[in-house]
Amino acid sequence: MRPEFFLRSRSPDETRDIAEIVAPFLGPGDVIALSGDLGAGKTCFVQGAARGLGVKERVTSPSFVLMRTYHGSLPVLHLDVYRLNSLHELEDIGFEELLDPGHVMFIEWGDAITPLLPEEHLEVVIKVASDDERTITLLPFGSNWMRRVAAIAERMGEWEKSV
Ligand SMILES: Nc1ncnc2c1ncn2[C@@H]1O[C@H](COP(=O)(O)OP(=O)(O)OP(=O)(O)O)[C@@H](O)[C@H]1O
Ligand SMILES: [Mg+2]
Repeated sequence: MRPEFFLRSRSPDETRDIAEIVAPFLGPGDVIALSGDLGAGKTCFVQGAARGLGVKERVTSPSFVLMRTYHGSLPVLHLDVYRLNSLHELEDIGFEELLDPGHVMFIEWGDAITPLLPEEHLEVVIKVASDDERTITLLPFGSNWMRRVAAIAERMGEWEKSV
């Protein structure tokens, strides 16, 4: 069984806190695809994860610029492929080279470019449940991510008891 992990967030700050808990489990070369509903909180999740990775800069939506780079304990790449017309546009920005082992890459609407994603990646599905409520599912792809999601679930369980 795929050990996907399901959480509920009740505010933008809680989504950031959840992402911050995931951050220590991330390392160089990791690709995190964010999917789900429009305006659900994908950028919000990346803000929290970036904070956990030591990024001090303000993280804003890259949907009009396609990609932003931040500097934390390692470089953090933040892409949004929503406005992408074709996969060729990603080739133009050198996406293949971006799958470099040196940084962490977050891709909003990453499920739209599945053929380009590495086999090992994490998908974070965020859905709108009500005004301020969101469901967040961590969906691992590949055996390494399956193990890591199990570890995150354990850590998240401790966090849930503390809030
Ligand atoms: N629990 C929650 N978690 C995250 N965002 C929430 C939550 N409740 C309300 N919001 C609101 O939902 C919006 C999420 O915006 P955000 O830009 O992060 O979404 P997005 O998924 O990146 O959008 P887009 O699809 O345009 O890229 C914000 O206005 C935020 O205040
Ligand atoms: Mg966004």
